[in-house]
Amino acid sequence: MRPVLVLNGPNLGRLGIREPDVYGAQTLEDLAALCRETGRELGLSVEVRQTDDEAELIGWIHEAADGKIPVVLNPAAFTHYSYALRDAIAQRTAPLVEVHISNPNAREEFRHTSVVAAVATGTIAGFGMRSYVLALHAIAELPS
Ligand code: DQA
Repeated sequence: MRPVLVLNGPNLGRLGIREPDVYGAQTLEDLAALCRETGRELGLSVEVRQTDDEAELIGWIHEAADGKIPVVLNPAAFTHYSYALRDAIAQRTAPLVEVHISNPNAREEFRHTSVVAAVATGTIAGFGMRSYVLALHAIAELPS
């Protein structure tokens, strides 16, 4: 099965308790189970990780680039300002789909800018945890 990394940035470890009106009641573990199940259906071996640490997230993007591993990435707040993350993603060697649970363009002004969108293969936002399912379908359909 093709490996896929599903990487999550800061505060996403707190899904379920964090602003449930925005992000829903499901936890990161629920999200991980959904991604793994979707992966099984699509013939993808999905590994889900989360970190609050920018350096750790960048290290995982490097690992994906070196291993030619497709990525589903929710950069969380790093989306809006991390040029270091953007520069790491620019080195990608396989598809990388930016995902968001909420629709950042329908929220506060500072969320309307993504500094990573231009170096991602594409972006899926606003479908709750289904954003990840749609991203995995996109990865399954794209040549890696
Ligand atoms: C988010 C949207 C970001 O603006 C926010 O900082 C997050 C989560 C989302 O999934 O909707 O932490 O990436």
